[in-house]
Amino acid sequence: MKHFTSVHDIPNLNQWVNEALKIKSDPLGFVDIGGQKTLGLVFLNPSLRTRMSTQKAAMNLGMNTMVINMDKEGWRLEMNDNVIMDGFTVEHIKEAAAVLGQYCDVLGLRCFPNLKDRNEDYSEEVLNKFIKYCGVPVVSLESATRHPLQSFADLITIKEMATKSKPKVVLTWAPHVKPLPQAVSNSFSEWMIKAQELDMVDFVITHPEGYELAEEFTKGAKITTNQNEALKDADFVYVKNWSSYSKYGEILTDGKGWMIDNEKLKLTDNAKVLHCLPVRRGLELADEILDGPNSLVIHEAGNRVYAAQTALKKLIEINR
Ligand code: CP
Repeated sequence: MKHFTSVHDIPNLNQWVNEALKIKSDPLGFVDIGGQKTLGLVFLNPSLRTRMSTQKAAMNLGMNTMVINMDKEGWRLEMNDNVIMDGFTVEHIKEAAAVLGQYCDVLGLRCFPNLKDRNEDYSEEVLNKFIKYCGVPVVSLESATRHPLQSFADLITIKEMATKSKPKVVLTWAPHVKPLPQAVSNSFSEWMIKAQELDMVDFVITHPEGYELAEEFTKGAKITTNQNEALKDADFVYVKNWSSYSKYGEILTDGKGWMIDNEKLKLTDNAKVLHCLPVRRGLELADEILDGPNSLVIHEAGNRVYAAQTALKKLIEINR
C-alpha cells in the first residue's frame, strides 16, 4: 500500500478494523512511530471533521502536521497539460504537488468533484495528478468519487456497536436542497460490500428512482426504491444525500417522505443511525433522531481519529 485512497488499498479489512479498535483503546500506544515526520494536509474544499481528526491522529503518532486551505490561501491551480497559462490559474499542479512533496513525508488531499462533467470527476484527475507529481504517500481526505477515511470510521463504528455477528446495514438516500457529490455513498457502499464478502454485514441500498449509484461501487449490494421494505429489521441505518449519477449532478425530487424520523425507525430492529456530518436538521434527518438514543453521529465522528491513525500508521510502516 503506497497510498490510501480506497478500500482496495487494504489487504485485510478485518485486521484493519481490529487494529483501529486496539489503537482506540490506547491512542498514544504508538506515539513514537511517527518519528517527527511531517504530514501535510491540503484542502481544496472546506472541512471540519477530516481536518481536525487527521491532525489529531497524526499528533497521536508523533507526527508534525501542516495544513493549507488551497482554495482560499494557495495559488489558483492549473490541472491541464500543455496550456498557455494566460488566464486565472497561477500555478500548475506539476509544480505545486512536487513542491509540497519536498516539505512533507505524507500528504493528505481533499478534492471534491465539480459535478458538471461526470467523466472528468470519475477519472479522479486531480487526485491522480497530485499522486503522480508529489512523490510521497498520499491519503485521500475525500476525492471526487470516494471518502475512504469516513467509510473506515463508519465500519469501525458498526463493528463496535453491533449486537449481532452479521447486522443488517441500510444505506438510505435523504433529501437535500443542494446537489451533493456521490463520494460518501459510493465509498460507504464499496466498504460495506467488502465487509459483506467477509460475512461482517448484510448490506442494502435504498433510494428514489434516478439516484442509482455507479455500478462499480454497488455490485453485490441489494438495491431497492422501496425505503420501508429496506428498513425492515435494519440494525444500522446510514443516512446520506447524493445527487443523480445518471443525470449527473442533478436533483430529481424534493424527497418528500424520505427523511428518517422516529416513525420510520419503528420499521427497523431499533436501528442505530449514522450520518457522516455535516447534517441539515429537519431536512436530511429529524431532530428527534439526532437528539435521541439511536443516533451514533457523534460517536462516528469520534472514530474518524482512529480510522486516520490506523491508515497513517500503516503508511508509515509500509513505506519506511
Ligand atoms: N464527514 C466529513 O468528512 O466532515 P468534514 O467535511 O467536516 O471533514
